Amino acid sequence: MTRSLIKSQQHYKRAYDQLPLGVSSNFRAWEENTIFAARTKGPRIWDLDDNEYIDYRLGYGPTILGYCDERVDAAARRGMELGGTIGLSTVREAVVAERIKKMVPSAELVRFANSGTEAVMAALRLARAFSGKDEHVMIEGCFHGHFDSVLFEIAPDEDRDGGVKPSSAGVPKVLRDLAHIVPLNDANPLEDVLKKKGDSIGALMIEPILGNAGSIMAEEQYMQDVRSLCDRFDVVMLVDEVKTGFRVARGGVQELMGVRADLCTFAKALGNGYPISALAGREEIMRKIGGDGGIAQGGTYAAHSVPLAAAEKTLEILDETDALETIAAYGTRLQEGIGGILTDRGIAHVFTGHPSMAGLFFTEVLPRNYREWANTNYDLYNALALELNELGILCEPDSREPWFICAAHDDACLAETLEKFETALSTVLTRMSSETVKSVS
Ligand SMILES: Cc1ncc(COP(=O)(O)O)c(C=O)c1O
Repeated sequence: MTRSLIKSQQHYKRAYDQLPLGVSSNFRAWEENTIFAARTKGPRIWDLDDNEYIDYRLGYGPTILGYCDERVDAAARRGMELGGTIGLSTVREAVVAERIKKMVPSAELVRFANSGTEAVMAALRLARAFSGKDEHVMIEGCFHGHFDSVLFEIAPDEDRDGGVKPSSAGVPKVLRDLAHIVPLNDANPLEDVLKKKGDSIGALMIEPILGNAGSIMAEEQYMQDVRSLCDRFDVVMLVDEVKTGFRVARGGVQELMGVRADLCTFAKALGNGYPISALAGREEIMRKIGGDGGIAQGGTYAAHSVPLAAAEKTLEILDETDALETIAAYGTRLQEGIGGILTDRGIAHVFTGHPSMAGLFFTEVLPRNYREWANTNYDLYNALALELNELGILCEPDSREPWFICAAHDDACLAETLEKFETALSTVLTRMSSETVKSVS
């Protein structure tokens, strides 16, 4: 049984005439397969044609407890009673900041913003102001949002020297020389660039789990090397926890990997999908926000009373219940189930990352960096993901996007997912050429 997308397709035509690509974020445009959500609940989405999906995209990560969580939504409604955007601070800001600080020890001070992009943008500006140095280093395969300074990348097949290119039109060429990109899990290229340019580089930005490159994970020794190189060259270490924060552990990836950032950024799981983000870090650095000679940070909607109240409740649940343990346990069982199906068919595969946000790669060898992702069979992955979407299992048709788990995924979801995975795999293997299949078996 394949799904009908008649209503979504009709609506896509209408939307296309009103919105570029017919959507409000480029990532949501899947051409003729673009679907429009009609309603959601827990781990499930229904589209305009009433197709039902078990969702493993979860809005690219935010929905940590499940859609329309009654506890969070009730808190958000109470937040609305305060007035929304007031142009004054409210008591809850310090209350939520205290909770963040309790959960993430490096968060000595906290500032709120509306999106991951905004938080990272302010954090990078802050790192420049504190260090007095304008350039920054990023890691291949990382994504830090849609502001100009970070919209640079190296394609995985591109020579590292000189291969840095803007990942969007309209990014000023003059910014190109400020951005340096090095691979994950090899501290030597980082040390080389810092030896050459340490006087101009003020920030190192890292997602220790590459949440935008299949959750490929930094190794413990590498993270320690990164920390000591940042200390040695007076570089602010900015750990971007927009995807990992309040998800992979109560204290995020910093707790998981035993590393302490100078600055860190949060969004996504912070508000169970309500638009709120935070930057946080060492007091000495954070005190550079505002005042004479300090950095600009703020905005009309920062700490809006609705998402802030949602964040208060979400963090309370994540901190005080076993939600994160439940999520990780589901993720582990999902991997065991999918792994078993693939092993039975003799298909080489590995899982990367944390069970709450894992990548699945068709390869024998665990990828250690973004280039190694390019060696995996992502044609098989993409075909499989599209077939799973047809059957009502929503994962991104791009193996760089992890499978996200929420606390509402339950046994029924697991059984249905595994049954449909088996069916989708059979369909795809029958359809694909024997060459492609051979390369992974
Ligand atoms: C690690 C990371 N940083 C920053 C961002 C940007 O966040 P937002 O989309 O909320 O602007 C993202 C978005 O996916 C992200 O994954």
